[in-house]
Amino acid sequence: MRIGILTGGGDCPGLNAVIRAAVRACEVTYDSTVIGFRNAWRGVMDNDYEVLDVDRCRGILPLGGTILGTSRDQPFAHEDGLKKVRKAYDRHGLDAILAVGGDGSMAVVNELYRNGFPVIGVPKTIDNDISLTEMTFGFQTAVQICTDAIDRLHTTAESHHRVLVVEVMGRHVGHIAIWSGIAGGAAITIVPEEPFDIEEVCERIVHRHRKGRFATIIVVAEGALPKAGTFTMPEPEIDRYGHQVLGGIGSILAREIQGRTGIETRMTALGHIQRGGSPVAFDRVLGTRFGVAAVEAALESEWGQMVALQQGKIVRVPVAEAIGQLKTVDDELLRINRMFQPRIPGDEHPGLPSVDVKD
Ligand code: F6P
Repeated sequence: MRIGILTGGGDCPGLNAVIRAAVRACEVTYDSTVIGFRNAWRGVMDNDYEVLDVDRCRGILPLGGTILGTSRDQPFAHEDGLKKVRKAYDRHGLDAILAVGGDGSMAVVNELYRNGFPVIGVPKTIDNDISLTEMTFGFQTAVQICTDAIDRLHTTAESHHRVLVVEVMGRHVGHIAIWSGIAGGAAITIVPEEPFDIEEVCERIVHRHRKGRFATIIVVAEGALPKAGTFTMPEPEIDRYGHQVLGGIGSILAREIQGRTGIETRMTALGHIQRGGSPVAFDRVLGTRFGVAAVEAALESEWGQMVALQQGKIVRVPVAEAIGQLKTVDDELLRINRMFQPRIPGDEHPGLPSVDVKD
């Protein structure tokens, strides 16, 4: 077989593990050739590619980023995009393309499949928001980076008796925030799934400080939103692919908290540090499993399928079913998050009758 591979959307630790695994599976086990397209669909349309072999992929397993480069460009954004993709299949005698990407890339895989192209989807995103897969590679690395940062921020927050707001990624979901907030022992974690009330946040902080704890770490997902009518956020900028450019909620929160409580508050935005550098072991293994599984799906002509992790096993799911609806943080983690935040009078204990919180 001749198999094309590309990596699209925001990069993410573990992409090189997928590429390496697909190449190894093809060359060593399945007597197949892999053509790597540079910068996602842009490389397919512009015929920018390299033939990948085991030698080319040596040493890339621990490398962050993607040796193929990435972009958010896609065929349906161009009038002649589909024609160019068809030409790429013909020119290279491709039997399949494995497209590694996030929700946007999976939507493109679905459209190409509906147009008769042999394609397989491989889900990736540090946000971990793709439906029908329990985990995407890159997520655990991002969580570890945020947790390490929160551990460090604890000591400086405590020395200065400050509130420290840590802004993490998560465009529409709070997986990174919740996981790193729990792992890092944040006092309050704010996620897009549950719009926040700034007055309540401040009350919790004041209450906590009154009880003699003089430092508070607050983790906030970049996509978090205030409850309607509490205060107005500036409209986010939109990038050239129609995505909101987020980031900034951390500064807004820090300003509001300091202004309303009088407690000195600082903010750290972790930004793209969360996407850079070497993948943790889990992400290397998941990327490797996805890479092998995608090749095997192609060998079995399972077009329009996305490889996924379900109950610890690698499965195939129709990409059409995975797109359109983001996977949000599940109720169990949201409940733990609520349970562990500083209590204020009137709080209900989740699952138990309301308790009286003593000052
Ligand atoms: O979708 C993954 C993600 O890392 C989001 O968490 C974040 O909002 C976005 O990408 C940032 O994208 P860009 O690379 O365009 O700044």
